[in-house]
Order: sequence, then C-alpha cells, then structure tokens
Amino acid sequence: MNEEVKIGVWLTNKRSSGKIAFLQFRDGTAFFQGVVVKNNVGEETFELAKEIRQEESLYVTGTIHQDKRSHFGYEIEVSNIEEVGKSEDYPITPKEHGVDFLMDHRHLWLRSKRQFAVMQIRNELIRATYEFFNKEGFIKIDAPILTGSAPEGTTELFHTKYFDKDAYLSQSGQLYEEAGAMAYGKVFSFGPTFRAEKSKTRRHLIEFWMIEPEMAFMHQEQSLELQECYIAFLVQSVLDHCQYELKLLERDPEILKRYTQLPYPRISYDKAIEMLTESGEFPDVKWGEDFGSPEETFLAEHFSKPVFVVNYPKAIKPFYMEPHPTRDDIVVCADLLAPEGYGEIIGGSERATDVNYLIKQLEKAGLNKSDYEWYLDLRRYGSVPHSGFGLGLERAVTWITGEEHIREAIPFPRLLNRIYP
Ligand code: 4AD
Ligand code: MG
Repeated sequence: MNEEVKIGVWLTNKRSSGKIAFLQFRDGTAFFQGVVVKNNVGEETFELAKEIRQEESLYVTGTIHQDKRSHFGYEIEVSNIEEVGKSEDYPITPKEHGVDFLMDHRHLWLRSKRQFAVMQIRNELIRATYEFFNKEGFIKIDAPILTGSAPEGTTELFHTKYFDKDAYLSQSGQLYEEAGAMAYGKVFSFGPTFRAEKSKTRRHLIEFWMIEPEMAFMHQEQSLELQECYIAFLVQSVLDHCQYELKLLERDPEILKRYTQLPYPRISYDKAIEMLTESGEFPDVKWGEDFGSPEETFLAEHFSKPVFVVNYPKAIKPFYMEPHPTRDDIVVCADLLAPEGYGEIIGGSERATDVNYLIKQLEKAGLNKSDYEWYLDLRRYGSVPHSGFGLGLERAVTWITGEEHIREAIPFPRLLNRIYP
C-alpha cells in the first residue's frame, strides 16, 4: 500500500467542508472514496474538487490507503485531478426514483451500485457455467436463433419472414442440442431465447438467456444429479468470488451457503398437488393443471433448499418428453423451484426415444411433421436414452442476488411494452 496510482474514475457523489473534500468514485470495478485535503493539493485543485459534478469523468492521482469503513476496503488520498469528460445535470440523483424513470434511463442506471453488483454476479454465473461444463466434459454447440421449430408450443412465438419462408426467433435451443448430443455425447448451448408471452410478472422476460445442456446415454435421475451439482457450483462460485457484491446488495451469504448442500429434495407432482390441497389455501387447484407463482412459492417454502418437482401431467408439458414407464398420464420430467419465492429456475426432462410416439405427439401438438423430419432422424439412426434441461440465467441471477424483479437481472431488459433503451 501507500503506493501512488493514477486511475480513471467517475464521480458518484461528494461532500466538502472548508479544508477537506470527500469524493465518491467508481472505476467500473469498485466504489471507493477519494480524500482531497486543501493543504496538500493547493487552492486550484481543491476548488476543482468542489466543482466536479456527478458522473464527470476524471483521472485522479494519489496514494491508496486501507479503509476498514468502506466495503471496498480502500480509499485514495488525492494529490492531483485531471478532468476528462464534463457531466451535465445527471438525471439519476441520490434521491429515490420511480421504476419507469429508472427503466427509461437504464443505460445510465447500470452505473449505480446495486446494478453494478447484480451485473458482476451475472458475469460470475456466466464464467462459472463455462467452467462447470468444461470440467464435466461438455462441449458448447451453438443453436440457431432463427428457426422453423416450436419446441415449447406455438402460442409464444415471435414470427418473422425468412425471405419467402416463415421463421421464428428461438424459444429454446433444445432440439438442436439433442442433435448435438447424438453427435458429441455431452453438449450445451448458451444463448438468447425469446417468448412472446403476454405476461407482466416479476419472473418473465420477453428475451432471456438460457443454458441448455443435453446428455446422451443419460436417464433423468442422473440428469437431476448433474442439475443440483451445477446449481450448487454456481452458488459456491458466487460465494468464492463475489463477497464484495453480496455486501453491496446486503445479500446474506449464510442463506446462500445452505444452497451448496446436496442433495436437493425431490417431490412428485402428485405429492405437490396433495400439499396444495391439504393446505386449504388453494381451493381451485386440480390435478392436471400447471402451477402459477403462488403455488410454486408455497411449495418451495416447505424446503430450505431448491426442490425438484418431478413427473408432471403429460397434457401440460411439451411434445418431446419421455412417457412414464408405468403411467401414461405423466412424463419423466422435473422443474427445479428456487427457495424464497423465486419460482422455477430449471425445466428439464428425459427425451422420448421412440419415433412413432414422437410422430403422434407432434400431431397432437398441432405441429407440422415435415418441419421436424430432421428431429425424427435422431430417433431413426442410433437413438439412445438422453436427457437435458434449461436454466434461465436471469431467474438464477434474480434468486442469487435476492433482487425483487427479473428486469434487474439483465443489462437491457425486454419486457411487455418496453424495448427502450
Ligand atoms: O421450462 P422452459 O420453457 O423449458 C425449455 O425451454 C426446455 N426446452 C429446456 C430444456 O430442457 N432444454 O424454460 C426453461 C427455463 C425456465 O425454467 C426458466 O428458468 C427460464 O427458462 N424461462 C424464463 N426466464 C425468463 N423469462 C421467461 N419468459 C422465461 N421462460 C422460461
Ligand atoms: Mg418450464
């Protein structure tokens, strides 16, 4: 320490008295304080320090000291200041602002402390994802964004023209990952996906990023083990590398530590229905229906860790899921529900291997067989048991950071009625 440095910073806040000015800086990697003492820097630099406006950019020179009071742990004793870019009246002041105002200024809002912390943690989840799947022997197979298929149903598709044909923005890379798994064993994709969902909830984005692993020669039980290892690895990576960010967010690391303990509990869909019915809080709940947020929150509250709900009714799940070996009303699948009211973070299943079963399922789903011939080929040439799943990156970020709303978990959220900025 006590080393002289010159750093490029922005001013976030300041206060001063006659002889000393405290400048709050950010340099993109942390927030810290600069102290300017009039007697040390002289009249001119001290006057400049008092005039700098919020978000003006600067080069500051000075020595770094340890400072136990700051989250970052350091402050800089300033010896010189050079102005780089002036700032006008910055719209986001330290006072409270409404969400719409902040969303309209998302391009600037990203500079704030909470947003900084969330984006750093998002980045850590991305980094840890690559580390985990590389370590597990997966290769990344990129799925196309422009597609002719509708793996998750036809009601939520973004349509576009593909020259004289129709195309859709990808809802999921899964079907392509299945082709990848038959070619390379263990694969994953990580890309943007789109759902033209007319839902305005704190869990839904129109455009979100999904991590979709797909494994050949793997049944569902082994896939669940991989899923819980992956989630525990993500949480542990945040605990290992993002303590500063967790502090900024006031997210208690002790709570997160619980989520690194394996295994996670598993309950059947049938059992979940029973729990909901017995509670008396959900008079309308019926076997055969999907869960909404209140039901998922209620179920998750019974466990201190994420919980797998397994084997949902066939009628409410996509066409490609493996039918249950002894019951024809359910499929071999699982949703992973996050604790603390964050709902479903993973959806996955074993995949049907029988070509004739799939042809019937396509028909039932109202999908055009000729669009899926390539997918059926995967069953015609050396079909094997295989399983996979999809983790919604922003759902995971929202949960791990403890944010209230998924719009905070992505740099530029696409929401119902919002495509600016
Ligand atoms: O459950 P979903 O729809 O499953 C699939 O798309 C499968 N094809 C995945 C697979 O098996 N390869 O979506 C998977 C996950 C959800 O659990 C959720 O985390 C996230 O994607 N997700 C959304 N996140 C934000 N906004 C939305 N509108 C989302 N829809 C799904
Ligand atoms: Mg789902």
